[in-house]
Amino acid sequence: MKIFCTGASGYIGGSVGANLAAAGHQVTGLVRSPQKADAVRVHGIEPVMGTLDDAEILARAAQAADVIVNAASADHKGAVVALLDAIAGSGKPFIHTSGSSIIGTRSRGERSDAVFDEDTPFTPSPARATRVALNEFILSYRDKGCRPVIVCPSLIYGIGHGAGRDSVQVPLLIKLAKKRGNAAHAGPGENIWSNVHIDDLVPLYALAIDKAPAGAFYFAENGETSMREACVAINRMLGFSGPPSAMTMQEAAAEWGEGTTEDTMASNSRVRARRARAELGWQPKARGLIEEIEQGCYRE
Ligand SMILES: NC(=O)c1ccc[n+]([C@@H]2O[C@H](COP(=O)([O-])OP(=O)(O)OC[C@H]3O[C@@H](n4cnc5c(N)ncnc54)[C@H](OP(=O)(O)O)[C@@H]3O)[C@@H](O)[C@H]2O)c1
Repeated sequence: MKIFCTGASGYIGGSVGANLAAAGHQVTGLVRSPQKADAVRVHGIEPVMGTLDDAEILARAAQAADVIVNAASADHKGAVVALLDAIAGSGKPFIHTSGSSIIGTRSRGERSDAVFDEDTPFTPSPARATRVALNEFILSYRDKGCRPVIVCPSLIYGIGHGAGRDSVQVPLLIKLAKKRGNAAHAGPGENIWSNVHIDDLVPLYALAIDKAPAGAFYFAENGETSMREACVAINRMLGFSGPPSAMTMQEAAAEWGEGTTEDTMASNSRVRARRARAELGWQPKARGLIEEIEQGCYRE
């Protein structure tokens, strides 16, 4: 198949694109610099120069492909409109990447007991209302002769398979721990995020391309961990004795920025990937987050 992938030089898109190319598909990938073009070629992806704002480039690339994987941004509506309008009426799959912070509960590092699967009703926080509206807009193309599908990963960990090697939360925690000589979380760190290994997420995209019905939405998760537990593991991995420290929200915001602190590092995002397992037969099997931190790629 011919597959066009946005975010081809990134963590998710690079991993998905590289694996689809390795499986024998012809993969083209959006890149925005000659350096990134070289970086994706190494992984078997033919670069298409352009940005998410280049509607004509996106439309041409989508029309030339059998499948579109949108992994550059969970929020860029202009690119989504250009890509979906280009394939309306074609029946082609459009696999969009969202993120489980859509159901996130801001809690300043406190634990929340709210757990969401694909059927749990929720009201997004003001910070994620636009992302949720974009998801609904994408899925509405099921009535316009496309096969729109949303993959909604939780916290992703592990080393990427393509040009983009690193994710977000765990590298941020490790970098800060190295700087301070001790891991640190925002507030009490009892807040919990579901998580998924990149090695498990990649096959979910392949399954979605093969078998997801039009309008399907899938959380991706295979376990959950509090930020404090992740910090304890980071200290063990780095050989720092003693417990991790609790930063005030102001301290955390000074390190990570206010939005990332409130919606990513100090919030809860607890989801269950019920539908991917039941409908697609997805079977995640990579090692868990704590084990990956203590004995896996982060140690290396
Ligand atoms: N990582 C996670 O744990 C996670 C979990 C759930 C959801 N998500 C969401 O998934 C999306 C991708 O995440 P990621 O971790 O793969 O991010 P990433 O590693 O930063 O990759 C983003 C990719 O998109 C490209 N890109 C960004 N803006 C672009 C633009 N305006 N025009 C063209 N290309 C553009 C980047 O190109 P350059 O290489 O040139 O920068 C890069 O290839 C994000 O929206 C993120 O919020 C991530």
